[in-house]
Amino acid sequence: MTKKFYITTPLYYVNSVPHIGHAYTTIAQDILARYKRQQGFDVHYLTGTDEHGANIEKTAAANNVTPKAWADSVAEKYKEMWKQLNISYDDFIRTTDPHHEHVVQAIFEKLLKTGDIYLGSYSGKYCMSCEQYYNDSEILEGNLCPVHKRPLTEVHEETYFFKLSRYEKPLLKYYEEHPEFLSPKTRANEIINFVKGGLQDLSVTRTKVAWGIPVPSNPKHTIYVWFDALINYISGAGFGTHICDDKTEHEAQLKKIGVATFEDLWPADLHMVGKEIFRFHTVIWPAVLMALNLPLPKKVFAHGWWTVEGEKMSKSLGNIVNPAEVAEKYGVDPVRAFLFREVPFGQDGDFSMASFKNRYNSDLANNIGNLLSRTLNMAAKNIGDLPETITGNYKLLAKAGEVEKIIDAAYDELAFDKVLEQIYGFASDLNKLVDEKKPWELAKTDPAATKEVLLELVACLRYVAKWLTPFMPTIGPEMARRLQPGKIEKYPPLFPRLEK
Ligand code: ME8
Ligand code: MG
Repeated sequence: MTKKFYITTPLYYVNSVPHIGHAYTTIAQDILARYKRQQGFDVHYLTGTDEHGANIEKTAAANNVTPKAWADSVAEKYKEMWKQLNISYDDFIRTTDPHHEHVVQAIFEKLLKTGDIYLGSYSGKYCMSCEQYYNDSEILEGNLCPVHKRPLTEVHEETYFFKLSRYEKPLLKYYEEHPEFLSPKTRANEIINFVKGGLQDLSVTRTKVAWGIPVPSNPKHTIYVWFDALINYISGAGFGTHICDDKTEHEAQLKKIGVATFEDLWPADLHMVGKEIFRFHTVIWPAVLMALNLPLPKKVFAHGWWTVEGEKMSKSLGNIVNPAEVAEKYGVDPVRAFLFREVPFGQDGDFSMASFKNRYNSDLANNIGNLLSRTLNMAAKNIGDLPETITGNYKLLAKAGEVEKIIDAAYDELAFDKVLEQIYGFASDLNKLVDEKKPWELAKTDPAATKEVLLELVACLRYVAKWLTPFMPTIGPEMARRLQPGKIEKYPPLFPRLEK
């Protein structure tokens, strides 16, 4: 059995509801998953929800439900959203899944034995209202909380530490030997400099947070949410044969994800994350894997952040964009594609409805949709049945082969924007061919030449349909269907024009 192409998204916190930001990461990996499947890869795509910790405990309490009941309802909302957006994930993991919890506990106990986790104490200035520690640089004069302006309490807390400091040099060596690990390259230096600045051991348990996975050998401690959540990438991949007691549960997990062993999936090919959690994924997570003697993921890619109409999305501003609502109005596929055409992947971007509508009309309605309709209308009149294979000395058909190479290279660097730029650019070339050759006039004098032009267009459009499919999993195949061999039928427009 060959290794699968294994990709992941972050596990989203259940203290908020899914919005355009979460959809962005999840659609990006869906596009990649669909493209890789087209290329013949056996893809495994994992996403899910992050359900423990103080914030979720608080949110649930504020809503008068148990944390688990709260998590159940929000996890469902995520699943619903991914269904609406046509996300082809293979598995959805929740950090409250018993299998995941048991793997986290087994890993914790194992690292306790190897000395990578040790019991120590943490002391610092704590704000009882914020429920958090502040360091000296943040504290206001007179030992006051920067938020509440009230005196801070000196707290000594027993906590377990993960020996992150031990991995400073191994991490730097790894970054150097695997330059693709920190992607895109523009974000690598920040991480390298951070690690060079020195790593401190990391507190990985809490005694004040009840809603977390208990440390088996000392259950008054619960495991820190990030230590818990990062492990999903291996618990979800079936890790645990050697360390979990319950073999039945472990076998069931492997069966559920359809692999024989953990090594069929691990190491992951790509963790996709937002830029704000890049450090967790490129410092803490690889150090934990090193402590477990496991290979590291091949690549962690951090993309940029969306604002909405120029503002940061927030509940208080009431400007959180629900992608399902936009999709309901304008179609799922146009929304999926827009997010990746508007902004170079990796950079920050701003979502505005005006820009969405402009691009919809120019890229989709006027460019691709119009091209397909006029080609099929003229082909119906001048060709009749469409042939299965189309060959000939066609300039643009030859160019399609070149474009495909550029597209493949763009996918290799996760430049989704460049992929779309190529597709839309090629469609413009085809439109230019139509404008130049004017097949509707040519038909009056030279039916044979007209047929040639239209065959070239049909052959090229079949490429376009295939290239669009990862971005537009419904419209791409529909376009291919309209171009399939045989009789041409009458179809409604693929992308009805939007009114301004
Ligand atoms: O950080 N623009 O979960 P989270 C772009 N549970 N992407 C955005 C975005 C925006 N405005 N808002 C959110 C967590 N995202 C942890 C992760 S992983 C083991 C644990 C996306 O619910 C982006 O992928 O805060 C970001 O990294 C993620 O959602 C954060 O989701
Ligand atoms: Mg966040």
